[in-house]
Amino acid sequence: MTTVNQSLINMPKTYLFAEIARRVSEFSAANPSANLLRLGIGDVTRPLVPAVLSAMHAAVDEMGTAAGFRGYPPYEGYSFLRDDIAKYDYQQRGISISADEIFVSDGAKSDTSSFIEILGLENDIAVCDPVYPVYVDSNAMAGRAGEPDGEGRYRKLVYMPCTPQNGFVPLPPKKTADIIYLCYPNNPTGAVATRQQLKQWVDYANERQALILYDSAYEAYITEADIPRSIFEIEGARTCAVEFRSFSKNAGFTGTRCAYTVIPQTLCLNGHSLHALWMRRQSTKFNGVSYITQRGAQAIYTPEGAAQVRENIAYYLQNAATIRDGLRKAGLEVYGGTNAPYVWLKTPDNQLSWDFFDRLLTQAHVVGTPGVGFGSHGEGFFRLTGFGSQEVTQEAVSRITANL
Ligand code: MLT
Repeated sequence: MTTVNQSLINMPKTYLFAEIARRVSEFSAANPSANLLRLGIGDVTRPLVPAVLSAMHAAVDEMGTAAGFRGYPPYEGYSFLRDDIAKYDYQQRGISISADEIFVSDGAKSDTSSFIEILGLENDIAVCDPVYPVYVDSNAMAGRAGEPDGEGRYRKLVYMPCTPQNGFVPLPPKKTADIIYLCYPNNPTGAVATRQQLKQWVDYANERQALILYDSAYEAYITEADIPRSIFEIEGARTCAVEFRSFSKNAGFTGTRCAYTVIPQTLCLNGHSLHALWMRRQSTKFNGVSYITQRGAQAIYTPEGAAQVRENIAYYLQNAATIRDGLRKAGLEVYGGTNAPYVWLKTPDNQLSWDFFDRLLTQAHVVGTPGVGFGSHGEGFFRLTGFGSQEVTQEAVSRITANL
């Protein structure tokens, strides 16, 4: 008899953003004239920038010629893109990462969720709470998280509370964690980690031979000069950390799909190179990102591409500031929105996150994300994104404040 994956059966029936989409479409079907403003999922809305478009068009033309046609891309990505990533995202910022430590992929979501495949089943795993649900769900699906308890917390995971009291940056746990997921600028709270805080984590990981899986998909949103953009700015990180980056949120590639993962050649666990193991995994399971897409991604490293992308980031950050300042003015307790596209707010009158979600949906016709969907310490919080248009953002803030 064929059986199914029991770990998957034990999980909540839907992924957070799928559940939100379900509730929203149910509401829309019942209220077809409602003009919904969507600040829920962190999906970009500005079109691809001209430099990316022209690079992609040129690549399409090349692919239509005998000389320019390309079949399977290299598993680790084309060297033209990896060279530029190494040069502009790392070396020019004084960070020692070389092109041969970079793996181009179709998303930080797929890489952060697949990376555990090269790690042992017996590892203790630590996650922030609240957390980007992909880290938890992918471990749960793989049977690594144990059973969920009554509150949906998995017994084998170490949850590290992220609260206003610790600025949403946890201290390393007393108990040893072998695999630690960190995401800064943080999704969902919009918080950032300082150099000193990351140094504590790197020292902890090196002392215990633990591994930090560092998601810096939102690094382009950092506005404060002293905040590290990469874990590899921290001394010692090359022996304990892997970094995940994405073109989704900086260059609008959520639909186009391109990202990369950095695995230092110096990173070994029990004498095994993680770089070699990831290459082994990728070459079996992944056939790379299309030439056209990689040429498009490369264009953001040209002077005009970089300027165009910066303009989009500034646009989204302005939206985040509109939300942050507008809601603060209305008396809400609000976090984030300065070095991140996300604004994290305390619900008024301590409402439960899903109750506030329903209230905003039904009364203000605004869609956000309930904080509890990111973990139990997100209960009583709510997330809004700066990824809408300026008009939608301003209108959403007026509607929310009118409905408090
Ligand atoms: C989010 O809203 O948290 C993000 O869109 C999720 C993602 O990037 O996969």
